[in-house]
Amino acid sequence: VGVVAHEVIELMAHELRKRGVELRNGLPEGREVRVRAESGPLHQVLLNLLVNSMHAIDSAGPTRIGWHFIRIAAEERDGDWIISVADSGCGISEANRKNLFKPFFTTKDIGKGTGLGLATSYRIVEGWGGTIEVSSREGEGAEFRLLLPKA
Ligand SMILES: Nc1ncnc2c1ncn2[C@@H]1O[C@H](COP(=O)(O)OP(=O)(O)OP(=O)(O)O)[C@@H](O)[C@H]1O
Ligand SMILES: [Mg+2]
Repeated sequence: VGVVAHEVIELMAHELRKRGVELRNGLPEGREVRVRAESGPLHQVLLNLLVNSMHAIDSAGPTRIGWHFIRIAAEERDGDWIISVADSGCGISEANRKNLFKPFFTTKDIGKGTGLGLATSYRIVEGWGGTIEVSSREGEGAEFRLLLPKA
């Protein structure tokens, strides 16, 4: 059983505060988000999403400083938890959206990203019987959603 722990968020909090990015916590209060997954890899997957969002905000540029946010939330739907990470970053072009989950696809400079984060995450999540969805438009931020069976 994997529990979406507030520690994942805590891990990012300092780095985001330094950047003036508002971290919005939409996880249910007083209730654990328990999914059929292993906690270690689950946190790795979430951390990659949060770091991706932070980088996307870095590339969105100074015009938007003052209202940047990353929101992590969870809601129930049927037998699943939908865990979402949304940001106000640079967004993803239609062309890039097709390549997101391909190994070594990255738009980051050499030394900054390997392009393995989402490819690995996708496989891990599929292995749990779940999936990852994305919605994004260039210049308008992005939202990644993990659909995972409830534990
Ligand atoms: N939230 C996001 N907003 C905009 N673009 C994103 C976002 N998340 C991912 N991307 C795009 O998808 C690409 C692939 O992401 P992925 O996590 O697989 O690799 P990476 O972050 O480049 O490298 P790493 O292996 O260190 O994670 C990124 O380089 C970026 O272009
Ligand atoms: Mg990444």
